[in-house]
Order: sequence, then C-alpha cells, then structure tokens
Amino acid sequence: MTNAQKWVTAFLGIFIVLFFIGRFTKEEVDYTEEHNSYESQEPVQLDGLALINKIGCVSCHGSDLKGTGLAPGLYSAKEYWSREKLIGYLRNPSSYNGDDRFEAYKTQYKSLMPSYSNIDVDQLGIIADYLLSLENK
Ligand code: HEC
Repeated sequence: MTNAQKWVTAFLGIFIVLFFIGRFTKEEVDYTEEHNSYESQEPVQLDGLALINKIGCVSCHGSDLKGTGLAPGLYSAKEYWSREKLIGYLRNPSSYNGDDRFEAYKTQYKSLMPSYSNIDVDQLGIIADYLLSLENK
C-alpha cells in the first residue's frame, strides 16, 4: 500500500464508523419523538367520565356526580341542556346568572361553578355527551 492508499482507507474507515454512530443516535431521537406524540394524544383518547375525573369536576359534584353540599348532582343534565348550550355553559357559567334555577343554586351551594373556557372545546363536547347520556333514576 502506498501512503495515499493508507489515507484513503483510514478516511473510509472513519466515515463508516461515523455513519453507524449517526444511525444509532437518530433511532434514539425517533423513539423519543414517537413517545412524546403518543403522550400528547392521550387526553383526546380519554372518555367523558375519565375527563371529568381528571379535570376535577367530582371534587364539587361528588365522585358519583350525584351532588354534594358544594354543587348539585348532574344526572338531570338531559332535562335542562342541549349539547351546544351545555358546552356554552361549561365555558361561561356566569352567563346563566339571573335564571331562577341558578339563583336558587346560589343560596343552596357553597361553591361557584368555575369557567372551563381554557379546556379544548372537543373535550368539553366529550364531557357534554357523557353528561347528557346519564339516566336520572
Ligand atoms: C368548585 C366547584 C365546582 C367544580 C370543580 C365544578 N362545578 Fe359544576 N357546578 C358547581 C356549582 C356550585 C354549580 C351550581 C350552579 C352555579 O353555581 O353556576 C354547578 C353547576 C353545574 C352544572 C349545571 C347543573 C344544572 O343543574 O344544570 C353543570 C352541567 C356542571 N356544573 C358541570 C360541571 C363539570 C362538567 C365540571 C368539570 C369540568 C364541573 N361542573 C366542575 C360547582 C363546581
């Protein structure tokens, strides 16, 4: 081998080693990205009851959603709400101040319904569908 051939062989060797290191590192990055996108999709996959638990509606409305001293039960939602109105209410409950039912709630319950306008409307829709599916027994 001439000196020039030795250099070429050495460079090829280094190139091949770097190529494999590159591949190895890239696979690691891909794995993390996949993992992250899986996690960010997770909330969308939750069903209505899981969202209600996660957001904490149960802390006022009760773990069975049948009401506590803090807030009314939610089993009558179907009697009072259409899907659109219910989503609107969850986003801005104070817009119903002045309605007879809500005036009575004010004296009856020791907390206020928070506004959930920070929550994705699609998720509020899933919650609304769940509440409207509850049968009042
Ligand atoms: C801090 C306590 C609290 C939390 C948390 C809370 N609520 Fe309420 N909610 C109330 C109170 C009090 C009322 C009674 C009406 C009012 O104050 O506006 C109410 C009223 C309601 C009503 C109307 C009931 C009716 O008779 O029509 C619905 C529906 C409702 N809440 C759903 C939810 C959902 C869904 C969540 C979670 C995303 C939630 N609430 C979280 C306190 C709470």
